[in-house]
Amino acid sequence: MPIEELKRPDRIDEDRIAKLKELFPEAFGDGKLNIEILKDEIEGLNVNLIEDNTEEYYGLQWVGKKEARKLALLPPQGTLKYKKGDGINESDTKNLFFEGDNLEILRILQKSYANRIKVIYIDPPYNRGEDLIYKDDYKDPVEKYLQKTGQMDEEGLLTSNPKDSGRFHANWLNMIYPRLKVAKNLLKEDGVIFVSIDHNEMANLRRIMDEIFGEENLLSELIWDLGTGTQAGHFVRAHEYILVYAKNKDKLPNFSGGEGTIEHSALKKISKKNPSSHFTFPKGTRFEAVDGTELKGEWGGSEKTFLISGRMIAENGVLKESVTLEAGWAMKGQMEQWFSGKETFDSKGQKVLEFYFNSSGVLKYKKERSVVNPPSIIKDVGSTKSGSQTLMDLFGENDVFDFPKPIALMKFLLRLILKDNEYVLDFFAGSGTTAQAVLELNREDLGKRRFMLVQLPVKTNLEKYNTIADITKERIKKSIEHLSREDDQKVILDEGFVVYELDKTNIRKWEGYEGENLNVLNQNLDLFTSTSIIEEANDIDVVTELMLSQGFPLDSSVKVIEKSSNSLWIAQHEDVPFPLVVCLDGKLQVETGRFLNDEYGKGTFICLDNALSNEQKILLSESMNVKTI
Ligand SMILES: C[S@@+](CC[C@H](N)C(=O)[O-])C[C@H]1O[C@@H](n2cnc3c(N)ncnc32)[C@H](O)[C@@H]1O
Repeated sequence: MPIEELKRPDRIDEDRIAKLKELFPEAFGDGKLNIEILKDEIEGLNVNLIEDNTEEYYGLQWVGKKEARKLALLPPQGTLKYKKGDGINESDTKNLFFEGDNLEILRILQKSYANRIKVIYIDPPYNRGEDLIYKDDYKDPVEKYLQKTGQMDEEGLLTSNPKDSGRFHANWLNMIYPRLKVAKNLLKEDGVIFVSIDHNEMANLRRIMDEIFGEENLLSELIWDLGTGTQAGHFVRAHEYILVYAKNKDKLPNFSGGEGTIEHSALKKISKKNPSSHFTFPKGTRFEAVDGTELKGEWGGSEKTFLISGRMIAENGVLKESVTLEAGWAMKGQMEQWFSGKETFDSKGQKVLEFYFNSSGVLKYKKERSVVNPPSIIKDVGSTKSGSQTLMDLFGENDVFDFPKPIALMKFLLRLILKDNEYVLDFFAGSGTTAQAVLELNREDLGKRRFMLVQLPVKTNLEKYNTIADITKERIKKSIEHLSREDDQKVILDEGFVVYELDKTNIRKWEGYEGENLNVLNQNLDLFTSTSIIEEANDIDVVTELMLSQGFPLDSSVKVIEKSSNSLWIAQHEDVPFPLVVCLDGKLQVETGRFLNDEYGKGTFICLDNALSNEQKILLSESMNVKTI
């Protein structure tokens, strides 16, 4: 196996080019892409796919779109640092809370959480004129973020975007576009994204979601009926939207859920296609007519039933005797099965509960409603007022956070699709409604759904909570406490979370220096040759950074073993085939090298560049994927 110097990737989605190469090798002569050949190849497939007109073509354009695209492809510059003690029940939880700018955090999660998130829900700033939005820095995203953290909104992390700014829509699109693009990679193939929005950006959001997720993957433009409305010109506006896209609609089963039963006639009009036949109903079959009612001859409207033998008499709500009838039975096979006492299901998998006669002698069926497509208008799930009331109940004070979403809305959405051991990611977490909804759903059915939230530490005016991220964490804690108070049954539920914050990288080599100051450059070079890890770094932070860059999720098991005076960090995860071993010591002992060869073959080994002798490099690379920093 090769030994390579561990480098920051040039782009976030290196794999896409590799896929293109694989599909169209002809277009990659000498390693370079020849667009004309690619065009010819595609045209050769006889599909009318190539847009000839490069000046006028379909698609939403705005000032800054090119830059926004680049932002989405930028590799991560920072890392995530574990904030021990900021969460609760930290050792028993898979729930995650990230503090920092969501774009950089989404980039950092690219490798380790690609195709692992089942649901993304976001509620970004709606761009109503008074909303503050994040201003990305292309050159130095993490450094700018760290400089501005903790400052008040206007000069700090968020800036205003008034309607008369001249770039009102463009500014918002430039913020949201790269985030959606990066987030898509994290979704599972059968994953779904929900985005809350109102009339201000609905049209634009729809167009960019079509571009990023594909028009064919739109599931719905849900309307959230707010119950009450606000006067808006000629209409009272009483709704918001939730755009729903699948990552890949073909891979997503129909939404199922809902409660209750369905009752319907089990008869069809007699025709050539649906000829009549005889069926004998046993004594005791439910018959809703009043006692003593007897039907004779034939009855029913266009779907007639004929008496063939026996008597159709009602007594105590059931048939007094067995009776043979003739009709155009709509579900004869299921009737035969059910009356013979077997469990019966229809073609959609819905359980048949009963066949019975109504008071007019019409045969009806009753089924368990197990497959229902939810309606596209969501009603009776509250409004932001009820969201505020929930916060008031938890915090005991008003105005902790403006416009939180109601818990009932979040539960409705999550119930459609989020199952045990699956993550919902909300990277505009606000007060953390999504987390509370997950915790409550799990309480209701002892489920194991998980959440992953991202929130900027935007400074607040409140005395108790310095930043919005502090409010989010406090809300999650309070809702866990609240649940425990309501029901202190000892059930094993994941009621905790771990906090990580966005920080600068621990690996000096990745930082680079683009200035012209020779002294600084020389200093940097000296440092490079001495150590590639920054002085203040803790080993565990370096290991976490390396794990994330090598595709190991944060719930990987990490242990340290001591071998011949070397400390070896071993990370393993059920979804990653081979382990990661990290050694941050200045020198790797010969025996340690042998031990690694024997125990961790096929795994990845990362160590400092000058910790290995040439001999060791050769030996280790025979069995392991060796990378140096
Ligand atoms: C509309 S609120 C979400 C409210 C949330 N759904 C609730 O129920 O409480 C949007 C949140 O996104 C946060 N935000 C804005 N830009 C962000 C960014 N770049 N990274 C992380 N969070 C951001 C804001 O601070 C705000 O708290």
